[in-house]
Order: sequence, then structure tokens, then C-alpha cells
Amino acid sequence: MSTAAEAGTWKLGDMEVNRIGYGAMRLTGNGMMGNSDNAPIDRDVAVGLLHKAFEQGVNHVDTAAFYFSPLRSANELINRALSSWSGDVVVVTKVGPGRHPSGEWLDTIRPDELRGQVEENLRQLGRDCLDVVNLRAGGPRTASIAEHFGALAELREAGLVRHLGLSAVLPEHVTEAQKIAPVVCVQNSYGLDWRRADESGLVDLCREQGIAFVPFFAVSGLRREAAAGQEHDARVHSVARAHNATPAQVRLAWTLHRGPHVLAIPGTTNPAHLAENIAAGSLRLTEEELVLLGKPDEGTVRDSAPDAR
Ligand SMILES: NC(=O)c1ccc[n+]([C@@H]2O[C@H](COP(=O)([O-])OP(=O)(O)OC[C@H]3O[C@@H](n4cnc5c(N)ncnc54)[C@H](OP(=O)(O)O)[C@@H]3O)[C@@H](O)[C@H]2O)c1
Repeated sequence: MSTAAEAGTWKLGDMEVNRIGYGAMRLTGNGMMGNSDNAPIDRDVAVGLLHKAFEQGVNHVDTAAFYFSPLRSANELINRALSSWSGDVVVVTKVGPGRHPSGEWLDTIRPDELRGQVEENLRQLGRDCLDVVNLRAGGPRTASIAEHFGALAELREAGLVRHLGLSAVLPEHVTEAQKIAPVVCVQNSYGLDWRRADESGLVDLCREQGIAFVPFFAVSGLRREAAAGQEHDARVHSVARAHNATPAQVRLAWTLHRGPHVLAIPGTTNPAHLAENIAAGSLRLTEEELVLLGKPDEGTVRDSAPDAR
């Protein structure tokens, strides 16, 4: 059986994690996107899936208090799973413009409101100190994150948070934050079809500064929050065939090949996909395949133009 350690490890501050992790957003179903008709995932099934991930070496889980649907919260499910698990698992959560309890997405948050979000995560996860908290900026149009990141740095000093990270940022935000407190990870949308973090130099900047770069939507690509759907990229199919692998594995492996500092947090509620995603860590792409995947593919279906998260 493949384990999450096969792609190697990376240190988030003083905490070592395997490079293949797990993103918990999908655990709450489409209700997270405001569709309250969606049947909630069974709690025991969700806990079982998380335990399967831990058994296969996943020790890095991404979450947020705003990953909730009418009857489920990702944090609650992670808390339950960890209460019956003895191994070390690093839980990375995020704060910033999130969601009202009604489910409505909010555009902004004041720096002084971040403490409440951190405390909400502490309560839901059953912790006295959060492993890593990412500040989710309002996107690249956010001019400065200094006040918000400064507020989180104070909470770190106060012992509520061990390490800090960033999400949905540009390189200049990383530089600005690093002057305030160490940044251990940066989480942006990134993958074969969406490489703004390459164009901006963000992936390279993170490597130079020893910061983990943690892409989201690496499997779902331009479909973003929607279900991943069928693979339309001929290049991905051809590389997958050569390795007897699946398109999702090729997409994940491609991101991991961007550098040892790149971590994966694929989200799934399907145990077979979970095993497949973990096994993607042992997929080694050749130089020729990386060149092929690096070329724009005119046959690729572009579903939508995502924002610049
Ligand atoms: N910082 C931020 O602002 C932000 C934003 C979005 C997400 N995130 C985090 O990033 C994580 C990853 O993003 P994501 O979950 O949206 O997208 P993703 O991991 O790129 O893709 C998930 C989608 O792909 C499917 N999938 C997963 N593995 C598959 C496989 N092996 N074969 C076929 N389909 C597969 C899943 O469906 P199945 O359930 O059917 O497998 C789901 O529809 C999230 O869970 C969340 O923790 C962060």
C-alpha cells in the first residue's frame, strides 16, 4: 500500500509533515456552497475516511471554520477523528473573510475580528493552540495585509497559534508578512490549468524562503469548487496512460514536481480517490512528460475564468 510519505516530507515551522495531505472542505458536501438540499455525509463515514487517510500516512489536514453545511462542520469531523487517533496530525486552518452563520460569504473582516475566528477554530477543533493559521487575504486586489497579519502575529505571541501562513496572496504580501512574523506556508489556487503563482513568481519565492507552497484546486482545476468531472486534457491522458495512472494522479504529481516545498491537499469523500491521491506521491514524471504538460494544450476545455485566488 502506498503511503503519504512516498513524496517525502517538509517542515511547517518545527512540525514535519508528509507532502501528501488532505483538504477537508469537501467533507461538508455541496451544502458548503449554499446548497442546503445536499444530503450531509454520515459522521462515521467521514471519521472513517479521515482515519483511512491517517493510516496511510496523511499527517497534514487543511480546514476552516467556514467549511460548514447546514448539519456538518469540517472542524467538528476532524476533532472527532482525532479524538480516536493517537498519531500526530498537523491541522492547518484559515481565517479572514469567511462566512456568516447563515452561510452567506463575507467580503471583508476587521483585524480585531480575527481573534474571534481563531477562538472559534480552537473550540471546534478542541485545541488550546492551533498548529497553523493561514490569513486568507481578500485576493490580489488587497493592497496591504499588514494590519490583519499583525493581529495574528499578536495571537501567536499570546500562544493561541503556533505558526502562521497566508492564502490567496501575491508575492508582495508574503514579503510584507515576513517582516512582521515568519510565514510557514502559502496556499493559493494552482495547477496545470491555472499557473498564476508561476507567472507572479510566488512558487519560486516560497522555495527561496523555505516556505511551503500548498496549492488548492490542483485536481478540480478550473472547475474549482464544482466536482472535478471528466478529464479533458489530452496531455494528461497520455501521461496517465504511460504510467498506468489516473488523470487526477498526474495533476497531483505535476504540482509536486514544482519543488520539494510543494505540498498537496487534495479533497475527496471517496476512499478509492483518497488511496489514489496518496499513491500519486510515488509517481515520478520524466523530463519529457514535464515539458509536454508544460505546454498549453489547445484541446483543454476552459470551463470558467477563475478569480485570482
Ligand atoms: N485557501 C483557500 O481559499 C482554499 C480554497 C479552496 C480549497 N481550499 C482547500 O484546498 C483543498 C483542495 O481543494 P478542493 O478539495 O476544492 O479541490 P481538489 O482537491 O482540487 O479537487 C477535489 C475534487 O476532485 C475530486 N477528486 C479528488 N480526488 C480525485 C481522484 N483521485 N479522481 C477523481 N476525482 C477526484 C473530488 O471528488 P470526489 O469526492 O468524488 O473524489 C472533488 O470533486 C480543499 O479541500 C480545502 O481544504 C482552500
